[in-house]
Amino acid sequence: MSIILGIESSCDDTAAAVIRDGVLLSNVVSSQKVHEAYGGVVPELASRAHQQNIIPVVDQALKQADISKDDLSAIAFTRGPGLMGSLLVGTSFTKGLATALNIPMVDVNHLQAHVLAHFIKEDKDDQNQPKYPFLCLLVSGGNSQIILVKAYNDMEIIGQTIDDAAGEAFDKCAKVMGLGYPGGPVVDRLAKEGNPDSFKLSKPHIGGYDYSFSGLKTSFLYLLRDELKKDPDFVEKNKADLCASLQKTVIDVLMQQLRKAAKDLNIKEVAVAGGVSANSGLRAAFEDYARTYGWKIHIPKFGYTTDNAAMVAMAGYFKYLDGEFCAIDAAPFSRVTM
Ligand code: KG4
Repeated sequence: MSIILGIESSCDDTAAAVIRDGVLLSNVVSSQKVHEAYGGVVPELASRAHQQNIIPVVDQALKQADISKDDLSAIAFTRGPGLMGSLLVGTSFTKGLATALNIPMVDVNHLQAHVLAHFIKEDKDDQNQPKYPFLCLLVSGGNSQIILVKAYNDMEIIGQTIDDAAGEAFDKCAKVMGLGYPGGPVVDRLAKEGNPDSFKLSKPHIGGYDYSFSGLKTSFLYLLRDELKKDPDFVEKNKADLCASLQKTVIDVLMQQLRKAAKDLNIKEVAVAGGVSANSGLRAAFEDYARTYGWKIHIPKFGYTTDNAAMVAMAGYFKYLDGEFCAIDAAPFSRVTM
């Protein structure tokens, strides 16, 4: 039997989870509210909050799993990419606890963990995991990538954004509309009441499977600038239509390249992961493509779309089974591809 504690502290969520033989026992996330007043994550405040939260969060994860720390087989932690100060808290905590318990540490790549969230089992009979090879669209505040997943430890990024990420496009456009931060969920909510064909926004023309969202963002800014000159209440009056048009354009761009990759590689098993995978329009588009193109789709539960430690524990479990442990002097890394 193997029991893995997963720890996630790459950005502004302090999270801990426990899995036993691949089955999730607990999943605790403490989201930091302190950043809301600043319109974005403040790195120094994030690392301080992680320091305050990490012990109670781990304690709660062990209690909910109904295990003692002495039952743990290994500790998996997010080594990167992320904010250095935040990563250092999870990494240092893991080193201390693993050393005290004399158990191995397993380092986890945050982006791979998002992809491997699809393998989390909430009960042992759950057989809904993707089959290799599959494509995963990873869309978050910092990444927009199409990943060819050949095995848990063999992932190839075949397309990615050359500028902004999809989540960034949502957040920045939401910010200029005065919708607060993070704007993605607000755009999603307002888009439900709007007409997606109200405004025509720029779409990129890029070869391969890459993405670009900076042109879309600029065309959105110019639209607002021009219309606000004519009517200072333009945003207020057209909020829902603006959100619906923005959301539709982002989704069209994401799905177009994904469909191209799936067709070229003749892959019908397609997953989505990362914070933006919570978007209801994107989820509906996946279902639509499943019907139209015969895709078998994998959409994560909401709890596994944003940062969480269940996915870290899952990724750590696979590495643990292969005896892939990391050394005590492992340093976190802030940037990486995969
Ligand atoms: O993966 P994630 O939690 O972490 C970072 O990348 O930091 O993703 C956060 C991103 C933000 O840009 C947020 O606006 C976006 O995911 N997001 C959404 C929705 N929920 C979160 N975007 C669109 N629709 C949503 N429902």
